[in-house]
Amino acid sequence: MLNISKRTFTQLTAKVVLSLTAFSAITALADEPFKIGLILPMTGQAASTGKQVEAGVRLYMAQNSGKIAGRTVQLIVKDDTGLPDVTKRIAQELVVNDKVDVLAGFGLTPLALATAPIATQSKTPLVVMAAATSSITLASPYIIRTSFTVPQAAVTMGDWASKNGIKRAVTLVSDYGPGLDGEKFFKERLMLNGGQIMESMRVPLRNADFAPFLQKVRDLKPDALFVFVPSGQGTQVMKQFVERGLDKTGIRMIGTGDVTDDDLLNGLGDAALGIVTTHHYSASHKSAMNQKFVEAFEKANNKMRPNFMAVSGYDGTRVIYEALKATKGKAGGDELLAAMKGQIFESPRGPIFIDAQTRDVVHNMYIRKVEKINGELYNTEFETINDVKDPGKVQ
Ligand code: PHB
Repeated sequence: MLNISKRTFTQLTAKVVLSLTAFSAITALADEPFKIGLILPMTGQAASTGKQVEAGVRLYMAQNSGKIAGRTVQLIVKDDTGLPDVTKRIAQELVVNDKVDVLAGFGLTPLALATAPIATQSKTPLVVMAAATSSITLASPYIIRTSFTVPQAAVTMGDWASKNGIKRAVTLVSDYGPGLDGEKFFKERLMLNGGQIMESMRVPLRNADFAPFLQKVRDLKPDALFVFVPSGQGTQVMKQFVERGLDKTGIRMIGTGDVTDDDLLNGLGDAALGIVTTHHYSASHKSAMNQKFVEAFEKANNKMRPNFMAVSGYDGTRVIYEALKATKGKAGGDELLAAMKGQIFESPRGPIFIDAQTRDVVHNMYIRKVEKINGELYNTEFETINDVKDPGKVQ
């Protein structure tokens, strides 16, 4: 018989019990799905954003193993119809009932802002894949952004315009967060460069009618009209710009790339040719990675062209996957969040970096002009400003 003392036996048993507990904790973790709650406007005015972001997320998931550190990634998609109260309610349900590990999506600024307190209270990382008002990341320490900020694009345009003979400009923006950011940062930069803003006009976000504003622009005769409207609304602006005959007056239309969004660019017609915009992504961005991305995206989505929203969904999913790999499957909010910060990688848009301090995206800004290539309209990039941080945070 093995001769062991009672004390040694107790110690041994304790060790076995301990390691068994640790083992079952690991197995339990490995068995538990890792849940991403993706909240997007799939219907309503911003539905094109929802459709593009979701397709980007799904493409990344299809191209990468859905099992990370033994955990199966599960995607739960919910339609918030673009209304903040609905987004907030859905986020609450996803956190409390479904016990999601990450909240993601957020097609418009008010939707992200409404959900920020839930991310903070529940310590759930929230990945913003669309909304672009500078201040969003300040609303919760659990917010990470992979889309862009409107000031990044507006400041870049302020510099380009000044260097290209635009001295007197009028601004026309949607009357909410990102529009007000666009107006402020374009104006400040143009004035700093010696230019002048003749008038700043704001159009309601919902059911926008640009016609009366465009009539006023015609009368004011600026060198350029700077426009920000959210993705999906560019067609109305363009149509009314042409209807009012502004395309024949020599007043140049410039703006952030949201206006000549790849999703609707072909529908803008030839009047869009030559429009110069600043943005972080064009479907015609020249890189091997982007070419592969566009091909795979179009194949998976019935020839739909990816826009900047799709890329943000794709990159946001990458950030989540890599964070989960780094924590070896542990999804406790703080640890996962820490692993999201500071990620640096190549995106279809070019090099991108999640600034660990601001939790915001740092990437190139491109100056682009609308051109026709093989019968289709594209935003051709012709100048690059490298590694642009959000000007809203570095002032
Ligand atoms: C926003 O609401 O923050 C937003 C939405 C669409 C855009 C840009 C900004 O294209």
